[in-house]
Amino acid sequence: MTNEAALLQFERVSRTFTTKRGVVRAVDDVTFAAMPGEVLCLVGESGCGKTTTGKMAAGLVRPTGGRILFEGRDFATMPERKLRVYRKAAQIVHQDPYASLNPIRTVYQTLSVPLLHHGIVRGRTAAVERIMELLTTVELTPPADFLGKYPHQLSGGQRQRVAVARALTLNPRLIVADEAVSMVDVSIRVSLLNMLLRLRDTLGVAFIFITHDLAVAKHFAGRGGRIAVMYLGRIVEIEPAAQLIRDPLHPYTQALLAAVPEADPDLTRNKEKVKLRSLEIPSLLQLPSGCTFHPRCPLFEEGLCDVQRPETVSVGERRAVLCHVVARQMAAAPMGPTTGDGHASDRAVGLDSRRDGPVGSMEVGR
Ligand SMILES: Nc1ncnc2c1ncn2[C@@H]1O[C@H](COP(=O)(O)OP(=O)(O)OP(=O)(O)O)[C@@H](O)[C@H]1O
Ligand code: SF4
Ligand SMILES: [Mg+2]
Repeated sequence: MTNEAALLQFERVSRTFTTKRGVVRAVDDVTFAAMPGEVLCLVGESGCGKTTTGKMAAGLVRPTGGRILFEGRDFATMPERKLRVYRKAAQIVHQDPYASLNPIRTVYQTLSVPLLHHGIVRGRTAAVERIMELLTTVELTPPADFLGKYPHQLSGGQRQRVAVARALTLNPRLIVADEAVSMVDVSIRVSLLNMLLRLRDTLGVAFIFITHDLAVAKHFAGRGGRIAVMYLGRIVEIEPAAQLIRDPLHPYTQALLAAVPEADPDLTRNKEKVKLRSLEIPSLLQLPSGCTFHPRCPLFEEGLCDVQRPETVSVGERRAVLCHVVARQMAAAPMGPTTGDGHASDRAVGLDSRRDGPVGSMEVGR
């Protein structure tokens, strides 16, 4: 159902790639809506379809199934000319600013090209003025010191700030940040994350923030944002970040949380509790039948999980989960058996109910 208020809406979106080895189902039947100014983090293991989803959100890759609506307009079937207009509204910031910035262009040149090309400003004086504002916005100060610098003269964090400034040149309403902080030094990661969050607060820009790191997702989506967990091309759980971390519904989310190495009491709440039946990630070329998580899932039910493909079930207004067993539990107790403070440590969908011999906890590898 189309959500009129949504900035971006994915309706049963899929994307396959035909390769020499077969058809890769990179994104499979993904549905979500992102509101203006909202933060939505996409997390999951390497190859689960995060970047492909982000590229589709930015209009760089077209879906092979389903619809993508941007401000109510069908992004996917737009002619190339119109799509270019909407690509301005949805900008992408890549993982590696060194690769995404032209090494022979100064900061001024990098930022002035989109400003002048798209007619955002006219003439060099206006371009310099706007670039100084943008550099201040991304906290590269004093801005005049950076205008003539080349990428190799900047630190990794500064380069990524220039990449963000470039994304801002076209006044986007959505920024897709794809592992945007994973290559910068840990010491400056938090300040970069906070700068991005300030952009959301001051400019009202929405974010699709892609990361394989749940601790980063927790920080970024922490203030009212949501996290969507992807597994083999599907969103298995989507909900407000704090709730997902406190009370994960899907066994895969529980396993991801258990694998977080940080000494973070929130993130490691489920540590030691989750044992997967297999550590092997199935191939996207040959997906398991039924629920694609079933070969690894500690809650696997034979005859159900290996046969029937689960459908997304909404739990309240902002939560949804993709699991037969959780859906059944929720149907029996719609709001879930939570404790008085909203915690669901005693939720019936517990991993203690696993029946098959566990083989080990998972790695969130890249
Ligand atoms: N252009 C392409 N042609 C063929 N296969 C592709 C293409 N782009 C992505 N894929 C495949 O689609 C799957 C999902 O890729 P994607 O890059 O979206 O995953 P990801 O979650 O971003 O992974 P990572 O965390 O490693 O960046 C992978 O198996 C990948 O090899
Ligand atoms: S549907 Fe079955 S296999 Fe899939 S996550 Fe739920 S319990 Fe596990
Ligand atoms: Mg990726």
